[in-house]
Amino acid sequence: MAKKDKMSVEEMLAAARASDGGGKGADSPAAAGDATESAPEATPAAAAEQPATPPAKKASAMSVEEMLAAARAEKKGGAAPSKPAPAASAPAADAPQKKPGQMSVEEMLAAARGEKKGAAAPAKPAAKAAPKPAAAKAAAKKGPAKKGPAKEAGPKDTASILAAARSASKPGPISKAEAAAQGKTLPAGKKKLEVPPMPAKPGYAKAPATAGANAERRGFLAVTLASIGVYMGSALGIGFGTIIATNLLWLLGLARYMFPNILTEPPTRFKVGFPDELAPGQVATKFKAQFGVWIVRDEYDGAPQIFALQSVCTHLGCTPNWLEGEQKFKCPCHGSGFYKDGINFEGPAPRPLERFAIRIADDGQLEVDKSRTYKEEIGQWSDTASYVPV
Ligand code: FES
Repeated sequence: MAKKDKMSVEEMLAAARASDGGGKGADSPAAAGDATESAPEATPAAAAEQPATPPAKKASAMSVEEMLAAARAEKKGGAAPSKPAPAASAPAADAPQKKPGQMSVEEMLAAARGEKKGAAAPAKPAAKAAPKPAAAKAAAKKGPAKKGPAKEAGPKDTASILAAARSASKPGPISKAEAAAQGKTLPAGKKKLEVPPMPAKPGYAKAPATAGANAERRGFLAVTLASIGVYMGSALGIGFGTIIATNLLWLLGLARYMFPNILTEPPTRFKVGFPDELAPGQVATKFKAQFGVWIVRDEYDGAPQIFALQSVCTHLGCTPNWLEGEQKFKCPCHGSGFYKDGINFEGPAPRPLERFAIRIADDGQLEVDKSRTYKEEIGQWSDTASYVPV
């Protein structure tokens, strides 16, 4: 039997199984060979199905690692094959392609290592992910300028880059994004300026709904007045304005000349109705306001007649009133009084009222002619033109 230091792996496996006592005779090579042959049959299956088998298992139920561990323990922990693990990196899909009996020991070891690595495979992402937090910490230590948002800031100009490179206290002009990023990391001594909120706008200061329309009107007026002011402010504008105003005044005077005044005085002759319409002793006052005359049916020197008295006081020209209750004409100015036939009897009036000419017109109506007057003091009332006998 070869020494343990010069034993191959197969021999070590056979020795391990023989020492475990569960196998066949360990001293005979046949037994070892049987064990060697039987081990590959059981080892891959056990390694695949039961990776965490306790050490009290039999050799046939032990995994390759367990068998190797037992062999190494027996060999004082040395002579472990330290080959590189090219097979470990072999894909696990290659293992099922070979049967366990056709696999060599190295392949089985590689399969066992692959199984071990497969068990530890979930730890790989963690190992790969671990540097990420470390990198993030390192980036955080370097400062916020190397963070993502800072890289996304707007393009820097040359002055900014040079200022930042020369002095950290004079960074030079920076973009808004950089200013915002720096504002978040103000020094401990400095305090961010807090702007108080704007007070609410009072109700009277709010513009009404029609503010827009009023503003437009005001704007239009302002523009118009400004244009007129600019135009009128010049000497030329003043001269033209004066000429235009003068011509307008001349045109107005010419129009007034073309349309002279028209006399609207009442006619001197007018009709006052039929004689039968007047009762004896009646005084008709309805023509006083328009024509200034009373139509009277009364007696003069015992003769009944109709005559027209002028409504003008013979004192100073006031207009007397007929007083039906007192049957007299009374002047309101100085109190002169006249009888119904026009003879003055009181007050300062020096003479009787005057008569107008009256006659019967062709249509039988009474017609008064104010162009002729008759005075009683000179005997004119006896003229037949001054009365109509009834
Ligand atoms: Fe009639 Fe003097 S005017 S009384």
